[in-house]
Amino acid sequence: MRTRNIGPLEVSAVGLGAMGLSQGYGAGVSGSEATGLIRKAFDLGCTFFDTAEGYAAGANEELTGAALAPIRDQVVLATKFYIGGSPTRAELGKEIRTRLDASLSRLGTDHVELYYQHRVPDSIPVEDIAAVMGELIDEGKILGWGQSQATEKQIRRAHAVTPLTAVQSEYSIMERMFEQDVIPACEELGIGFVPFSPLATGFLTGRIAADDTYTGADVRRVITRFDKDNIRANQPLLDLLTGFAEEKGATPAQISLAWMLHKGDFIVPIPGSRRIERVEENLGAAEVELTADEFGRIESELARIEIHGNRTDEDIARLGILD
Ligand SMILES: NC(=O)c1ccc[n+]([C@@H]2O[C@H](COP(=O)([O-])OP(=O)(O)OC[C@H]3O[C@@H](n4cnc5c(N)ncnc54)[C@H](OP(=O)(O)O)[C@@H]3O)[C@@H](O)[C@H]2O)c1
Repeated sequence: MRTRNIGPLEVSAVGLGAMGLSQGYGAGVSGSEATGLIRKAFDLGCTFFDTAEGYAAGANEELTGAALAPIRDQVVLATKFYIGGSPTRAELGKEIRTRLDASLSRLGTDHVELYYQHRVPDSIPVEDIAAVMGELIDEGKILGWGQSQATEKQIRRAHAVTPLTAVQSEYSIMERMFEQDVIPACEELGIGFVPFSPLATGFLTGRIAADDTYTGADVRRVITRFDKDNIRANQPLLDLLTGFAEEKGATPAQISLAWMLHKGDFIVPIPGSRRIERVEENLGAAEVELTADEFGRIESELARIEIHGNRTDEDIARLGILD
């Protein structure tokens, strides 16, 4: 597996998002299934694993930590905290420490390589968060820190206080809003960019059917690209990916990931899957190299294709979860 650098951390070019093992796509998997899948990912060269305190109320951290225990010193482990409201600077430091200690306990470790602020509300100055992160880095409890779904302005302000290691935000062929400002800012400042939902929550794999149905707190119930009309309307995009996949002896998912890997070596996607063969497929995208001509053709064809539907934080919140 090729590696990339995000800030001071060396990680596999494709990581693994663990969220779906516990929430977001119907029933989660068992601890032993999760361990089998995460260890297989490691055996295939994956060294970058992503979880959050909020995934299944901490259960996802427990399952990820248990799976990684024997290989803990060989991987980069990222988790996230969320704080809302308007805490004072002193309350903020205390609250973040309490949350980090709880995460470390669930993960069964004494530090994480990467600690993200899961959302960046305007009610808390980013400088205050960044100052606390600097203290945690000095104490060795975290090696680096990041923001998720931050604006360019928030990134620049935070980075000036304690340099960011990574920004993790939604990015895929179907959601390119951060190309305008956030991704160029990350490149300029030497911050890694970690696309979440890089397969557009599975849409880009081409394995979604218009008559698939979803129940409970499944994100595909509220992500409008899964609306039946939109599935049909987005077919030209899948035709494009399938065409390139055939040409390259790859799959649509691999072309989707190879496309973003081609955009810059500071970009490290973290696709998630509950199936080992799909994890293997997704990690295999690191070996699918697009030539400049192929990349240019994909870009120019994409420019002619309209995308129907999207994923928004507001829609996900209607399910009562933070993804
Ligand atoms: N920071 C944030 O706010 C935030 C938000 C969302 C996600 N994340 C992180 O990003 C990670 C990935 O994002 P995500 O789960 O939202 O979206 P994703 O990785 O784009 O898609 C996951 C979905 O695609 C399916 N899938 C994956 N690979 C496949 C393949 N090769 N063929 C067919 N289906 C495939 C999975 O189903 P199966 O399991 O059935 O294969 C699952 O339904 C999460 O695990 C989480 O760690 C972070």
